[in-house]
Amino acid sequence: MNPPVLLTCRIPSALLARLNEACDVERLEGPAAPFVLADRVRGKHALICLLTDEVGRAVIDAGQALRIIANIAVGYNNIDVAHARSRGIVVTNTPDVLTEATAEFTWGLILAAARRIAEGERLLRRGAWKGWALDFLLGMELRGKQLGVVGMGRIGRAVAAKAPAFGMRVAFAEQGGGDAASPVEHAIRLSLDELLVRSDVVTLHVPLTPATRHLIDRRALARMKRTAILVNTSRGPVVDEDALIWALEERLIAGAALDVYEREPEFHPKLLEFENVVLAPHIASATRETRTAMAELAVRNVLNVLSGQPPLTPVTLD
Ligand code: GLV
Repeated sequence: MNPPVLLTCRIPSALLARLNEACDVERLEGPAAPFVLADRVRGKHALICLLTDEVGRAVIDAGQALRIIANIAVGYNNIDVAHARSRGIVVTNTPDVLTEATAEFTWGLILAAARRIAEGERLLRRGAWKGWALDFLLGMELRGKQLGVVGMGRIGRAVAAKAPAFGMRVAFAEQGGGDAASPVEHAIRLSLDELLVRSDVVTLHVPLTPATRHLIDRRALARMKRTAILVNTSRGPVVDEDALIWALEERLIAGAALDVYEREPEFHPKLLEFENVVLAPHIASATRETRTAMAELAVRNVLNVLSGQPPLTPVTLD
């Protein structure tokens, strides 16, 4: 009998076929509540899941036969990794394959916010464009400005690497992620407070941990330049959404561009009221190439572990 596997999403058919050759796959249709996951994971040897699946104690305890939990995401804050490990279950994620797609998208958000692209499109679509004017929809030029990258892991570095193309200087703060030992070319290192005070664009690339939850709170936002833009493609709860609304209302910052929210798919309704906020639906890694590569990496991790080989990208708790 092939090992039973629970898959919580659709994956490309070629990958599903590969999985089906070696495993008995049960696929869930759409997002499942934890109690459903707990019910369906019973007896399974592997769980392939998404960042939207809450894999806490109850699910892990129900999965007595689990050998691997393969998250199709680089972030793994949805999984109780310590508990899984205490049960001898391997947890894997999908690093590297999504780094460039996420960095590209981050630049898309930086440009959209700084150059008011989404705002201009909304204006044009509602028929409010009266024609070219010298002082119409003026944004912030990136050249000569400072990019502040919070979290210098793979994605933070990839974002920083593209800054010279836009003539931006780079500062970084290692807050909650990154490798202090290896320097980042073209970048100066600052404390988070200094980075917030000095940067024109602040972009967040930290994992969500107890230490980074609400890292950007009222105090942090109040330190930012009134002309600065906040960009978040990491995890929603890294920013205190209520504090962000307050900072926007008080005009303490010039704008924000967000791909992630505290309670996805919900978000603070007031965000819709600000023309200077760009909103995206958690799609920073959403390219055909990258999402296929993420699913493939998860499948390979499962096939490896179930055949007694080491996982390719295990999550290590430091
Ligand atoms: C996306 O947010 C991911 O963690 O892969």
